[in-house]
Amino acid sequence: MDFNEQNLTARLLEKRIGNRIHFFQAVDSTNDVAFQLALGGAPEGTAVIAEAQTRGKGRLKRQWQSPPGCNLYISIVLRPEIDPVLAPQITLTTGVAVADLLSLYCPGDVTLKWPNDVQIRGKKVCGILTEMSASAANRVNFVIVGIGVNVNIERADFDESFRDIATSLKEEVGSKISRLDLTVKLFDNLEHLYTLLHKDGFGSIKDMWLTYSNMVGRQIRVVFNDNVQAGEVHGIDDFGALIISDENEVIRRVIAGDASIVKD
Ligand code: BTN
Repeated sequence: MDFNEQNLTARLLEKRIGNRIHFFQAVDSTNDVAFQLALGGAPEGTAVIAEAQTRGKGRLKRQWQSPPGCNLYISIVLRPEIDPVLAPQITLTTGVAVADLLSLYCPGDVTLKWPNDVQIRGKKVCGILTEMSASAANRVNFVIVGIGVNVNIERADFDESFRDIATSLKEEVGSKISRLDLTVKLFDNLEHLYTLLHKDGFGSIKDMWLTYSNMVGRQIRVVFNDNVQAGEVHGIDDFGALIISDENEVIRRVIAGDASIVKD
């Protein structure tokens, strides 16, 4: 049982991200706890980590399955000095950080699916939920980056509806993975890419994201409530939107929804 506050704090002390750890056995949602801490002035790099969540939140108001003792549920406070419209860059940057991390265990099998899924061999292993507070002057006060990684959960323990579309690192690698090592490497990756984003802008991170994505050139459908958009994927823009061309070759920006590749 090396996954505890003491070990995490010891290994993350010198870092920009993870320099302050708030570790809980169970919380409603690490994102909600981090949001409250950020409202109270928690500095950039503060991380909330829980063994379990009782109301883990997914995108589009979905639930995130968060049983104890097996996975990562982490939320990080960031304070980028950016316009709120650029906040999706933080989500995409986090996706690349997770993809780099999981590629150490499953080289060549990790893909990114717009907007925020990380997959191994086509099954979801990680989801990212970014929430934000912004000022009236169009500046971000803070961003909460919530990261859920299915690490050691077994297939049989997934809710039945996810069993065929989700996976865990353990299921893919065939052995148990240290959550302590994973967390330290994840924070390292995120620190590196977040610094790169700040210094050089989104260009190279966008290229990395596209390299991990298997969507460019494919026909996709994006469903958002009752709205369906379909077309060929060209890439993503600086605001995190997916760029597609429809059947009339009109270029469209898709800003939200669930994307799926249409089988040829
Ligand atoms: C998604 O794919 O729908 C996003 C899932 C995000 C889950 C993580 S777990 C840690 C953090 N706390 C939450 O309540 N949600 C995020």
